[in-house]
Amino acid sequence: MRVLACVNQKGGVGKTTVCANLAYALSKQDYKVLVLDIDPQGHLGQSFGFFNNNRPGIDALLKDDASLEAVTISLSDTLSFIPAGPTLQKLESMPKGKGRGLLLKKAIHQPVNDYDFIVMDCPPSSGFLVVNALAAANELVVPVTADYFGMSGLSMLMSTVQNFERVLGRYKRKWFVVSRLQKRKLSEDVLKKLAHYFDDDLVPIHIAERAVLAESPSYGKPVMAYAPTSSSSREFASLAQHIIQRGEKIDDKQGSTSRESLGA
Ligand SMILES: Nc1ncnc2c1ncn2[C@@H]1O[C@H](COP(=O)(O)OP(=O)(O)OP(=O)(O)O)[C@@H](O)[C@H]1O
Ligand SMILES: [Mg+2]
Repeated sequence: MRVLACVNQKGGVGKTTVCANLAYALSKQDYKVLVLDIDPQGHLGQSFGFFNNNRPGIDALLKDDASLEAVTISLSDTLSFIPAGPTLQKLESMPKGKGRGLLLKKAIHQPVNDYDFIVMDCPPSSGFLVVNALAAANELVVPVTADYFGMSGLSMLMSTVQNFERVLGRYKRKWFVVSRLQKRKLSEDVLKKLAHYFDDDLVPIHIAERAVLAESPSYGKPVMAYAPTSSSSREFASLAQHIIQRGEKIDDKQGSTSRESLGA
């Protein structure tokens, strides 16, 4: 099972858009996919036409030890979804405690689980919820905008991620995805810099800024369902294909540092 977290502390870079459309594209290639809304804003659910904020989800999984099955909603034969739940925001400020950063990881590895992919949408923060998502994921999908603030925010994210890798003793495969790309001279310059810094980790498929991607959530549909022949649909199909094909075995070696130190 591959566990991917869409993460970036910077807000509005396209995490939810990439997460929803990537998960949908993977499920369209007949992989069994579970998509999780780790963000109390609940935008991921809305992208799939799920507007009920009162149904328990990730909050119940983390707080009440709910079973994965009890909170999972089936969207199609190959795609399932767990909403954020009404009390997820409160969890972000729960007191620190030993091992609390590993709650989500424990929850998604329940024995009933036979998914090929779990894809998580993270909030634009670095508290308890993102700590749990980072610990649970073995791969990170990092949407990044090709502008100055997009670049400068990455160094903060990278130092958080490197701390995690050190504590867990485990490298996480990273997929930097240029999102919301517009045709500008600045974008070209930033793309060159990203390619220089991230080399193979920079995905060669870019997600352009397009009206269909902004519109499709208001119809509760991923872009491949809302506008199947659009270039955005093709971009997400190619992104999924790239992540499938290039997903070499993740180096899962254990580190010497205790996992217990991962308190949120
Ligand atoms: N490629 C794109 N083309 C057009 N609009 C986009 C694109 N990507 C995202 N958007 C729009 O930009 C806004 C922010 O995108 P999104 O919600 O995916 O970002 P986010 O990183 O998840 O934000 P947050 O940090 O608040 O969770 C949304 O209105 C979304 O529909
Ligand atoms: Mg979001």
